[in-house]
Amino acid sequence: MAEKENYLLTTKNVNLFYGKKQALFDINLSFPKNGITALIGPSGSGKTTYLRSLNRMHDLSPGVKVEGKFLFHNNDIYSDNFDLVDLRKRIGMVFQQPTPFPFSVYDNVAFGLRLGKKISKHQLDEDVEKALRQAGVWNEVKDRLGANALGLSGGQQQRV
Ligand SMILES: Nc1ncnc2c1ncn2[C@@H]1O[C@H](COP(=O)(O)OP(=O)(O)O)[C@@H](O)[C@H]1O
Ligand SMILES: [Mg+2]
Repeated sequence: MAEKENYLLTTKNVNLFYGKKQALFDINLSFPKNGITALIGPSGSGKTTYLRSLNRMHDLSPGVKVEGKFLFHNNDIYSDNFDLVDLRKRIGMVFQQPTPFPFSVYDNVAFGLRLGKKISKHQLDEDVEKALRQAGVWNEVKDRLGANALGLSGGQQQRV
């Protein structure tokens, strides 16, 4: 691939340890802009571990040590002054197991939209609808926005 500027995210010499057990060995991977990249590998090879390192999800796990360079738009993701809320808005993760909060469909979606900004009820209603439409689940949940999200099917929970 072409030069550095064509990459959204670059990772270099990544090693990761769960305690003494090393799970990632010198990973060098870059992700081109405007593309879709798939990571394929056997179960246990480190795909999830690597993905979690990209938005610092290991930060709160005691005993996990992450080494290497992670550049997102050429900024060091692991630098002390990197805004973690902003990072996780821009590098999100859809888990293999759906993980809605144990409250309503509406509040699950509104939770992220409310983060870090004041927003009117009317605007929030609109934004929740827009988000659910974009995820292709609006028609299935529009009559049960107040119902607990844990009562949805697995696939519906995933999209919510
Ligand atoms: N929290 C953890 N503590 C210790 N070892 C872990 C932990 N999570 C994953 N591992 C180990 O790290 C390796 C990579 O796991 P993982 O990233 O989940 O693989 P994949 O997603 O490719 O199936 C495996 O050997 C797994 O057992
Ligand atoms: Mg996995």
